This record gives sequence, structure tokens and C-alpha cells, in this order.
Amino acid sequence: MKTTNKLYILAILSFTFFISCDGVPEEKSKGSASENTFSVAEVLEMVSKENDVTRTLYTKAIVGKGKAQGMKFDEDWRKDDVEAGPLPALFLRGVASSIRKSPVPLGLYLGSDFPVNAANKFQGKQAELFEEIKKDKKPQFFYDEEQKLHTAMFVDLASAGACVSCHNEHPQTTKSDWKLGDVMGATTWQYPKDSLSFKETVALLNSYAEGTLDIYKEYLDEIDDFKESGKPQIGEKWPAEGNYLPTPEVFLDSVKKLSSYTTMKVLMAKK
Ligand code: HEC
Repeated sequence: MKTTNKLYILAILSFTFFISCDGVPEEKSKGSASENTFSVAEVLEMVSKENDVTRTLYTKAIVGKGKAQGMKFDEDWRKDDVEAGPLPALFLRGVASSIRKSPVPLGLYLGSDFPVNAANKFQGKQAELFEEIKKDKKPQFFYDEEQKLHTAMFVDLASAGACVSCHNEHPQTTKSDWKLGDVMGATTWQYPKDSLSFKETVALLNSYAEGTLDIYKEYLDEIDDFKESGKPQIGEKWPAEGNYLPTPEVFLDSVKKLSSYTTMKVLMAKK
């Protein structure tokens, strides 16, 4: 099977078996390099693609359009007196901390060389490799000897006007001339093993998708507690249509569609 097909099929499986892992095929031969074994680089690339789609959707369709409806997004969104939703970077951090609580040993960070938050500044090897990413936008892979973790870094682009305007205008910004399409940072992903079985790969992708749902649900819970601000109606509709927010299920469904869910289904049927 071609690697690309294999990737598509895996991606669809990750959604098909989302939440309940029932029905995931057993590994063919435990421990051996069977057809179902993926390199850590392949798997991290796959999850980073899911992340790109999720991140852009959240930034454009929720934060960008939501702001136009008067919805607020803030660093301190979790504070009781702040009635706002998570910024995109904090949405990603929410996903990361949900994954950390899961049994999947996957690490996820967002860094930059000109960060808003000094804690997000790349150091050491990652800072070095980020220079390469800025040049060609290609992913970088290395083994972090100190942490004993396989590490992959993927470009994080200013993919929406909201990225640029918010970073340029932020009081703590270290750079105020970001433009659309700029390399604003990179996501760093870490995993302890150099290859993953079919099951482990599915579990990793599920853990990412569950993380997305967790943080999105936390946002909706915050809204539920709003006292001063008007609450958007939560259902099928998106902020582009008015004072609405999609349910977690509708949100995840769009992620699936954007990551070529239909194509994957076709490929699956041909299997
Ligand atoms: C409404 C404001 C806002 C928007 C929109 C926004 N960001 Fe950020 N971003 C922030 C803030 C604030 C932080 C720091 C969060 C923290 O405390 O870690 C941050 C963090 C980051 C970081 C980590 C390095 C740093 O600056 O601390 C990157 C990279 C980043 N954002 C890129 C993007 C991209 C790409 C987009 C669009 C897809 C985007 N941001 C959209 C406000 C925003």
C-alpha cells in the first residue's frame, strides 16, 4: 500500500473509532515491523496536519468571525471576571494539556523567536532548527538526547488576518510588523518511541481529537457562566451567521470535512 493511502486510511480510522476504540484491528504481529507500523516522523506529521486544520478553523471561523459578532477572546479567559473565550495559542495549549492527562505520551508546544509570551521562546536545538524552518517552511526532525524524545517541528503560519492583527497590536509583542503568510512560529511535537503500531497511531490521533473537544467544551462551559455578556446560541450554526457557536460535535465534524474526510471514506471503501 502506498504511504499516502495508508495515511488517509489511518486518518479516517482515527475518526471512525473516535471515543470508542472498539473495532480497531489487532496488530498483525506484535513488536515486528509489520505493515501497520509507522515511523514516529510519519505519525507526528499526520497529527500536525490535523492540528493545522483545527487551528485555522478555530482562528478563522470562531475567533475571527466571532469577534465581528462582539464575542471576546482573551489570555485570561479562564478567570471568573473575564467573560471571553481562549485565544488560538491557548486553545492549542488546552489541547496539549488534555493530551498530557491522557495515557498517550505525546508532547505538544507552540514556540517562536519573537514571542508574545517570553516562555514560548525557542531555546537551544529547537531555536537552531527554527532558523531552517523560517527559510524553507519544511518540517524538522531530531532526537532530543537530553529528554530522550523524538522531536518534530512544523511551521506555524500567519494563516488568518486575526493572527497578524492580534500579535502586532499586543502590548507584550516583541515584533509588530507580522504579515499574512509569515512564519510566526512552530509547533513542536515529542514522542518517546521511534515507531508506532497501528493501535498506538490511532490512539495518538484520537487523543489529539479528544483534546480538541475538551478545550472547546471548556470554552462552552465558560460561556454558560457568563453573567454580563450576551451568550451566543449553541447549535448547528457558526459565528459567520450571527451570534452563534457550533456544538463540539459540529466543530469536530468540520475538522473532519476539512481534512478530506470524504476522500478518506472513498479510499477506505476501496480497501
Ligand atoms: C486575539 C489574539 C491572538 C490571535 C488571534 C492569535 N494569537 Fe498567537 N498568541 C497570542 C497571545 C496572547 C499569545 C501568548 C499566549 C501565551 O501566553 O502563551 C500567542 C502565542 C502565539 C505563539 C507562541 C509564541 C508567542 O508569541 O508567545 C505563536 C507561534 C502564535 N501565537 C501564532 C499565532 C498564529 C499563527 C495565529 C493565527 C492562526 C495566532 N497566533 C492568533 C495572541 C493571539
